[in-house]
Amino acid sequence: MGISTGQKFKLFFKLIVTAPGAIIKGVISSLINAFLGASALKKLIIIGVVAFLYKTLKSRHKSASLLGMNRSSMDESAVAAVASSYEQMFDSQDATSRLESYTTVVNSYYDLATDFYEWGWGQSFHFGTRFVGETLTASVARHEHYLSSHLGLKPGMDVLDVGCGVGGPMISIARFSGANLTGLNNNAYQISRGQKLVAEAGLAGRCGFVKADFMHIPVEDASYDAVYEIEATCHAPDRVACYSEINRILKDGGLFGGYEWTMTDKYDPNNPAHNKIKHDIAIGNGLPDIITSEDVRQALIDSGYEIVEFVDLAPTTPENPIPWYYDMQGSYSLSRFRLTKVGKWCSHALVNVLETLGLSPKGSVKTHEILIRASEGLLAGGEQELFTPMLFFIARKVSDAPAAAGTSS
Ligand SMILES: *[C@@H]1O[C@H](CO)[C@@H](O)[C@H](O)[C@H]1NC(C)=O
Ligand SMILES: *[C@@H]1O[C@H](CO)[C@@H](O)[C@H](O)[C@H]1NC(C)=O
Repeated sequence: MGISTGQKFKLFFKLIVTAPGAIIKGVISSLINAFLGASALKKLIIIGVVAFLYKTLKSRHKSASLLGMNRSSMDESAVAAVASSYEQMFDSQDATSRLESYTTVVNSYYDLATDFYEWGWGQSFHFGTRFVGETLTASVARHEHYLSSHLGLKPGMDVLDVGCGVGGPMISIARFSGANLTGLNNNAYQISRGQKLVAEAGLAGRCGFVKADFMHIPVEDASYDAVYEIEATCHAPDRVACYSEINRILKDGGLFGGYEWTMTDKYDPNNPAHNKIKHDIAIGNGLPDIITSEDVRQALIDSGYEIVEFVDLAPTTPENPIPWYYDMQGSYSLSRFRLTKVGKWCSHALVNVLETLGLSPKGSVKTHEILIRASEGLLAGGEQELFTPMLFFIARKVSDAPAAAGTSS
């Protein structure tokens, strides 16, 4: 690990230049000359062209997996197997059996998608409200700090981050609030990335990780002052069971807040076009199903909370005219390039050649296809306001609430 994207690209080109075959070398070196003189946008297009040339020449070189970095427990064929079983799960099974195998789905998905996400989004794998003159990184951080301040996080508090990813939001919220944080994640690969990032941030004293399923959190009742989730509990097979388990580990009166992925009240379950969008978002993001905003409100109440705040932050306003899906549509400024159509085509070509050359694990191309399908579903759902990735809620644990059905304590 510790290989930056820039280093990966350097290594990639180094390998191409030293590859055998004078003809290939000639083509490549003239491309590299063109490459060195080109603008940043042209550089990315050239990467795509080089990728397709190599794909056609089908030269295979065995070497370490760069894109997959150091997956000690997962060899290339295992990754390929995961990719195909992931696909099968969605192609051939109904939602019910998908629910049963959700742990496998989520883990398979995130093993495959983590590296791509880090390239596309940085270390915080979530959306944010967007304001004029603000970069994506700044928006994502403000979205995290908004949640932290509405939860009243401060030094001396013990806080659980449910579904913490590689710890990007946890690091940001630890710095912002001064609280002590524990990241809960059931994916070993992401935790190992997270531990490294937390150590680099100098926060190893205040940020830690627990590897566990958020449906069965291995801590005692009433352990935390506050709990939050950012676009994570949408992976739960049963919201009431999930929120109830979080309720159990919260202290009385403690706050639970977060951003849920839901279908809005514009979604019509009898409209096939709406359902296709919902299905694309679900399959592309490893979700068992996508419930409605009202389902989330009811699930919170049924799990022993009172609602403090409940608002969909997705609709634009005169103060905030930029939609959350802005980075996935439209023009070609470089920071947005990776998420646009041409950017996706170039990165797809690159992923293709990396897999062909054996530089990235088998299954990378499949994963990338799944991610592209996901972003198309998200864009359509966002534009038609059928879907929101930022139903914002703050809920308070009601003291002495009767344990809700489905609690797994
Ligand atoms: C890669 O994995 C091996 C085996 O688990 C480990 O010994 C080595 O330290 C790892 N290398 C890096 C750079 O993480
Ligand atoms: C928070 O972390 C610091 C540094 O490790 C520790 O001294 C302190 O006791 C912790 N506070 C809580 C409330 O756990």
